[in-house]
Amino acid sequence: EKRIRIGIAGFGTVGCGVAKILFDQKETIQQKTGANLELAKIVDLDITTPRSVDVPEELLSTDIDDIACDESIDIAVVLVGGTTAAKDIQIKMLQSGKNVVTANKALLAKHGAELFSVARENNVCIAFEASCAGGIPIISAIRTGLAANDIERIYGILNGTSNYILTCMEQNGDDFPDVLERAQELGYAEADPTLDINGGDCGHKLAIIASLCFGCEFEFADVTYEGIEKIAITDIECGREMGYSLKLLGVAEKQPCGEYTLQVSPSFVASDEIIAQVPGPFNAVSLFGNCVGHTMYYGRGAGMMPTASAVTADIIEIVSGNSKQLFDNLKLKPREETKPLVADI
Ligand code: HSE
Repeated sequence: EKRIRIGIAGFGTVGCGVAKILFDQKETIQQKTGANLELAKIVDLDITTPRSVDVPEELLSTDIDDIACDESIDIAVVLVGGTTAAKDIQIKMLQSGKNVVTANKALLAKHGAELFSVARENNVCIAFEASCAGGIPIISAIRTGLAANDIERIYGILNGTSNYILTCMEQNGDDFPDVLERAQELGYAEADPTLDINGGDCGHKLAIIASLCFGCEFEFADVTYEGIEKIAITDIECGREMGYSLKLLGVAEKQPCGEYTLQVSPSFVASDEIIAQVPGPFNAVSLFGNCVGHTMYYGRGAGMMPTASAVTADIIEIVSGNSKQLFDNLKLKPREETKPLVADI
């Protein structure tokens, strides 16, 4: 029997969920992979605050080298937020020859090209299903299920927190700050919720999804975005009276001029549209493929277990060898190559 040892860097909400799944679903995973997945080490700066999952004390450490320098660890699950320390940690893991699983959309949307190239130099892969739309297997749908298609248009609700806030405001007339606090307590919002509500988080995910769909290295800087901070209950009520619901939508499409646009904005959608009926913290993503036509994916886009489910799926895909193969085949054109030539006048 194959034994795979896993290290988790970052023992927050999602890290706890992954540990829980690795314990509780051990038999199921073993049956599906034929491998024994062993949680070998959990590293976090804070290992004393009680967590929602009990782990043997000897697994806990504050030293990242306990994963990076342990040659018996095959997979590093990096669940550290932000784009500075998280970047250094991912690079260290890749350079130590470890396959990396990450949920960090901000990091991929800003430094994806660099991280992917470090992974390639070290003959390992980065798996990132959990970076977009939480528990919805959207990355897998794009790379495998829709592989035969040219994807022409993407739109979706990609931030669970803002969708939760808009839903509670619309359905119960709740105040913005109260619902935001609740979203934090429920583990939907980031530790710093600024990007959840200003459209940035949705923009990060849109850049990643658009890169895979259009085969080009889009980054966060390519996204224009606006959030829901200025939305008042009266805006939502006016829309509803006219038969519309307010949703924070990410939209990416190819314009007739050949240029791509990636945009996040609060948008009124007709109340009888499927997407209008998606309540927070759920996400929904619509992809239009030239062969398949319109498709839509729906599920929990935020929270401990949905995101941990996606992280664990990536671990399983790495064990099966699929992730490495998909990663090796992933060829994204540099951004400049997709910009239309503009004649000098
Ligand atoms: N804070 C994010 C959200 C978590 O609300 O969607 C999932 O990426």
